[in-house]
Amino acid sequence: MTSQDAIEFTSDMRCNHNDIDAEHFAIIQSIQNINSAIVFRRERLIIANSFRSLYGKAASHFYNEERIMSSIGYFGIFEQRIAHRYLLEQISVLKEWHENNEIRSKFGGIIPLYKLLTNHFVTMDKDIGIFISKYQNRFTA
Ligand SMILES: [Fe+2]
Ligand SMILES: [Fe+2]
Repeated sequence: MTSQDAIEFTSDMRCNHNDIDAEHFAIIQSIQNINSAIVFRRERLIIANSFRSLYGKAASHFYNEERIMSSIGYFGIFEQRIAHRYLLEQISVLKEWHENNEIRSKFGGIIPLYKLLTNHFVTMDKDIGIFISKYQNRFTA
């Protein structure tokens, strides 16, 4: 695995909302766990449990993030909901492919999912942080 493909939470992924950043970090950790389980050829059940854990973390994070957005009157909540639904679907698809032993041939491993999720963090989610800092006085007043 090249450093370009390293699964890690980097500082540029921060959106400067502590709760959101902490949950993004936990999601990346979960992806790291799945990747090690695959690389070390752990039992199928362990890998399936790791996927279940990632799905649970992602679903609860998306719910929390949508609650935050709605509490601050964020404009982009509808697009975020669509993106979150899509990302959850991708996690399910990858889990199913893995269960059917198609993961390596069709999807090239877990890296594309990592890229999809982190791309969401650095684009759409970062905008939430920008929105908050722009209107911070309004929330603290
Ligand atoms: Fe999001
Ligand atoms: Fe997020």
